[in-house]
Amino acid sequence: QTRHPLRETALLEQCKHCSLFDFHGVGMIPIFTANWENVQNFQARPDDIVIATYPKAGTTWVSQILDLLYFGKTSPERLTSLPIYERVPFLEMTIPNLADKLPTTPRLIKTHFPVQFVPKSFWEQNCRMIYVARNAKDNMVSYYHFDLMNNAQPVAGDWNSYFQRFMEGDMVFGPWYDHVNGWWKKKQTHSNIHYMFYEDMIEDTGREIEKLCSFIGLSPSAEEKEMIKTGVQFDNMKKNKMTNYSTLPVMDFQVSPFMRKGKVGDWKNYFTVAQNEEFDEDYKRKMKDPTLHFRCEL
Ligand code: PPS
Repeated sequence: QTRHPLRETALLEQCKHCSLFDFHGVGMIPIFTANWENVQNFQARPDDIVIATYPKAGTTWVSQILDLLYFGKTSPERLTSLPIYERVPFLEMTIPNLADKLPTTPRLIKTHFPVQFVPKSFWEQNCRMIYVARNAKDNMVSYYHFDLMNNAQPVAGDWNSYFQRFMEGDMVFGPWYDHVNGWWKKKQTHSNIHYMFYEDMIEDTGREIEKLCSFIGLSPSAEEKEMIKTGVQFDNMKKNKMTNYSTLPVMDFQVSPFMRKGKVGDWKNYFTVAQNEEFDEDYKRKMKDPTLHFRCEL
C-alpha cells in the first residue's frame, strides 16, 4: 500500500525543521525538491485536474469540493476511508508514489508550485487548473500557525520576525506576491486556469461551487450541490478525520489545529496598527496590477 511520505516516521525525522534554501530563486525545503527530476517529468493526462495554491489559501477546501463533485456519488466510500492527502496527492511530495498511481479519472492533483515550476506536461496536455488565492494578511496568519505546528516546516520564530520574513518573501514556496501574480498573469494566456478567491468562497460557497462546475463541465443536481455545500462547511470539515489532517503525525494539534479558524479578517487579531501600515505601504509597491484585487475583510 502506498502511504503519504509524512506518515513515515523515518522521513519525518529527516525533514524535521529543515531550513529554507534558494531553489531556482524560490525558497524551498528538501522534501519538496528531492524528487525534482521525477516531478518535472511527470506525465500528465488531458483530464488531470490541478489544484494550485500558495500554502494556506484554501487547498483542502477546494480539494474536498472537487472530490465530492467527481466521486461523491460513484464512490462515496473513498471519501470516508481515505484522507484528503491520499485522494488529492501533493505533486511535489508524492511522486513517484501516489500521484502517478492514482486510480481515478480524473486524477485530482495538488501543488503549491509557483507557476514557473509546473511540469511542462500539464501545459502540453492543456489540463484544467484551479488556482485558489487568499488575501495576503490572512494567508500570512494562517501560514504562521501552520509553521508553528508542522514539524516539517522551518521554525516559525516569533510573530514579529515572521511578519518581516513574509514580506521579504523568505517562505517555503517563495513570496506570496510573486505566486498570486504569476498565476494571475498565466491565466491571461491560458484559458484552462480558473482563478478563485478564498474570500469569495467564504462569502458564497454555493456560488463558487456553481462557477467551478461550469469550469469543469459538471452539472450536479440541486440536491447534490446542497449536500456538498453542507459537507464542506468549516465545522464539518474540522470534525471530519478525512479532511482535518489529524492523521498526519507531523502536525502538532496541541500547538494549533490544521482547521484553525477558517475566517476572513483574522489578521486583525495579529497585526499591530504599525505593522498594518508598514504592510500596506510595502504591498502597494509590490502589487502593481490593478486587475488583481484582494479583499481583507467582508
Ligand atoms: S495547505 O496546508 O496549504 O494545504 O492548507 P490549505 O488547505 O490551503 O489552507 C488551510 C486554511 O484553509 C482553511 N479552511 C477552510 N476555511 C473555511 N471553510 C473550510 N471548509 C475550510 N477548510 C480549510 C483552514 O482553516 C486554514 O485557514 P486558517 O485561517 O488557518 O483557519
